[in-house]
Amino acid sequence: MEKIPQVTVVGSINMDLITTCTRIPEQGETIIGDDFETAPGGKGANQAVAAARLGAEVNFIGRTGEDYIGRELRAHLKESGISGLYVEEVPAVSTGTASILLTEKDNRIIIAPGANAYVTPDYIDKHLHVLKKSDIVLMSFEIPAQTILHTAKRCSEYNLPLMINPAPALHMSEMLWELADFITPNEKEYNQLFIKAEEPIQQKIITTLGDKGAQWKEEMTVESHPGYKSRVQDTTGAGDTFNGALAVSKAAGKTMKEAVAFANAAASIAVEKWERRQVCRIMTKYRKE
Ligand code: RIB
Repeated sequence: MEKIPQVTVVGSINMDLITTCTRIPEQGETIIGDDFETAPGGKGANQAVAAARLGAEVNFIGRTGEDYIGRELRAHLKESGISGLYVEEVPAVSTGTASILLTEKDNRIIIAPGANAYVTPDYIDKHLHVLKKSDIVLMSFEIPAQTILHTAKRCSEYNLPLMINPAPALHMSEMLWELADFITPNEKEYNQLFIKAEEPIQQKIITTLGDKGAQWKEEMTVESHPGYKSRVQDTTGAGDTFNGALAVSKAAGKTMKEAVAFANAAASIAVEKWERRQVCRIMTKYRKE
């Protein structure tokens, strides 16, 4: 029997506050939006949920505030099949939120980190036993920079493969890129952070290209895998699904080409916003093909 890959995500949890509107308001302008909804989010939590739905055994290390939003988000993570939930409440602090303006072709996000700022190096060390049992560790940039670097050092100490999703784009110490095994910016983040990066960093980068798929380097050749056609409803979190899926595939020992194909397929389904059961069915079919 194939071993179930163990993926640990260290990252953010937010409640997404989503307003749908026909256009983004100008400075000083008020407009009437079309719709409002709340949805569980946060890059870390989204990646963890994607990995769990794709069949990995997932540990998630993060924090919420001591509020009803936090309780709701923890329940959502449990229901999504995350078996190792290491999410402690921070007293007197609110759970992270993301205010999202969604138009037909665009999304704009403002994060209020709240409890995500309390995912500290000490908190990681408290959960070192969780990290140590991982086949891969995945992190993005909505938790403090010093925690990201600290966790990366721990991964290297214990020889744990590390995938860094540099979103939102933040300039980090060179050491972080050296410690990472895989770095997954989107095109914008690549241009902001890596356009001038030298080898061997370039060899670790897998750049997502939206509906055009993703590209990476193998030796001196640029390899790519096209995106799958989809009926786009909402692209929010598509990158997170790509990262979760890529982590699952790499943890299962797939080649980069196989892993990117799998991640592209998962992301193309995510933007259609299907129900969970349908996603599982489609991905099972995809795996068999
Ligand atoms: O990548 C999408 C996510 O970014 C949203 O869920 C939001 O919470 C922000 O973290």
